[in-house]
Formats: sequence, structure tokens, C-alpha cells
Amino acid sequence: MLVAVDAGRAYVKTITGNRKFSFPSKVSKARQRTFVQTLEEDMEIRYQGKDYFIGQLAEREGSFTRQMMTESKVNIETVLLVLTALFQAGAIGEVKLVTGVPINMYKEDERARLRAKLEGEHEIILNGTYRKLHITKAAITIEGGAAYWVHRRMGTVRIVDPGARTTNYATFKDGIFIDRESGTIPKGWDNVREADPEEMASMIVGHLGGMWNITDVVELIGGKAHDLVEPFKRVGFQFATTFEDPQFANALGYYALGKETLGE
Ligand SMILES: Nc1ncnc2c1ncn2[C@@H]1O[C@H](COP(=O)(O)OP(=O)(O)OP(=O)(O)O)[C@@H](O)[C@H]1O
Ligand SMILES: [Mg+2]
Repeated sequence: MLVAVDAGRAYVKTITGNRKFSFPSKVSKARQRTFVQTLEEDMEIRYQGKDYFIGQLAEREGSFTRQMMTESKVNIETVLLVLTALFQAGAIGEVKLVTGVPINMYKEDERARLRAKLEGEHEIILNGTYRKLHITKAAITIEGGAAYWVHRRMGTVRIVDPGARTTNYATFKDGIFIDRESGTIPKGWDNVREADPEEMASMIVGHLGGMWNITDVVELIGGKAHDLVEPFKRVGFQFATTFEDPQFANALGYYALGKETLGE
């Protein structure tokens, strides 16, 4: 079984087969509750002897709820979010995983450490159900750029992915990734002072303007891409466009890449 997980700072996006779903990237220690009201999307997990609330439940009932705002993704939160995503995707036993890190974190050391945390056997109990998951392969690619694999094509392809904390931008020319025209801006919707589309567009265009040609077709992805298209056209790239479901573009790209390199 192949599962693609885009563990973003705001939402975890998951794709497998023809199913896709997301939940908030929130993790907290589980708290003993006096009166327990359970909602359908509530997720409580036990991993390595510790109990956690995940997603909406962590938002609603957690104490010390953590949202990953650190630069690196090599941490227990990522592992918990990915395992929860795999479980919810229906994985049992062996599973192949494709996930990503921001472009500026795509270094051999970072990837190797993340892979080491993910690959191997994990025992997890989610809402009382025990499962053993064996991640036989964890492929780690780039956030933003991975959307390229959704519809690969020749010529110049520019992708911009404003997320919660970072904005990844990627360039492919005739199918080849161009590193010097790709990177990560350490700003996203949740940490830009005026998180409005006009401000975001100006900030990003200011960064890319000198490097990319204003007549390039720029594909905008990420959770709020639809809001960004018009301002982007106004302040810089007149041929800005977006995906049908831009929030899942990375995860779809991870899945397409995984299908090619690891098989379903
Ligand atoms: N349905 C929605 N309504 C309002 N805001 C949303 C919605 N979905 C996503 N957002 C916001 O859009 C932004 C980008 O969402 P996205 O899922 O692309 O971020 P992410 O991938 O989790 O973050 P990052 O790429 O920085 O790790 C976030 O600030 C998020 O809060
Ligand atoms: Mg993202």
C-alpha cells in the first residue's frame, strides 16, 4: 500500500488510492477528561506508552497543544501526525510512504534523520484500536515542488506554495528541477503580519520578481491559493493560475511520484 502524507504546519493532507482527507496539524498530551463527549473526527492515540490528542481534539481539549512551527520536521510531532494519517488511510502492516520537507531543508542529513524516525515498525492504538504498521520505505521529497508530478510537462514550470509558516517556490525546466530558481521564503499565512492576500502577493512577488520572468506561468498551490490568484496577477505574474484542489497539490504530487518510483 502506498500513502502520501503532506504533514504541513496547519493541516495534514493525506492521499491513498482514490481517497483523500485532512486534519489539523495539532498534537497535545492527552488529558484526563471528566465528562467525555466524543465527536466523530476525534483522535486519541497511544504511541510508545504515551497518550496524545491529535487534530480537532487537540485543538478543543488539549493542554500544551503543539503546532509544529519549528523549521525542521524531524520531531515526534511529525511522526505522530504521519502515523495517525497512515492509520486513518487504512494502512495495516506494510506500507510505503511519500512525504516532504521544505525546499531549504532538503538536505541529506535532514532527510536521513526523518527517514530513520519513520521507517520501521510502529505500534499504535487509535481510539482503542491497535495496529502494527511497518513503513518499509519512506521517500522524502520537496514541499511545493512535488506538485510538479501531478501533471508533468516540458518547458518552464513555476510553482509557489504559500503554507502556514513557509512559502516554497520551485522551478522545473524541461522536466529538470532548477535549484537556483527554487527555495523557501520563511513566511506564510500564519506568520505574516497582515495575512491578507494582497500583502502575501506583494511579499512573494517582491522576492521572486527579479528572478522569475513576469510572463512565466506561475501555479499557486496551498490552502489559500484561490485567494491569491487575482492579487498575484495584479502585482506581478499576469499568468498566475491554480489547481482545482490546491491544498492537496503537494500530497497528489507525492502520490504520483510514489506510484512511479515505489509502486502502489
Ligand atoms: N479551509 C480553510 N479555511 C481557511 N483557512 C485555511 C483553510 N485551509 C487552509 N487554510 C489556511 O491556509 C494556510 C495554508 O494552508 P496549508 O494547508 O497549505 O498549510 P500547510 O501546508 O499546513 O503549511 P506549511 O506548508 O507552511 O507547512 C494556513 O494558514 C491555513 O490556516
Ligand atoms: Mg504546505
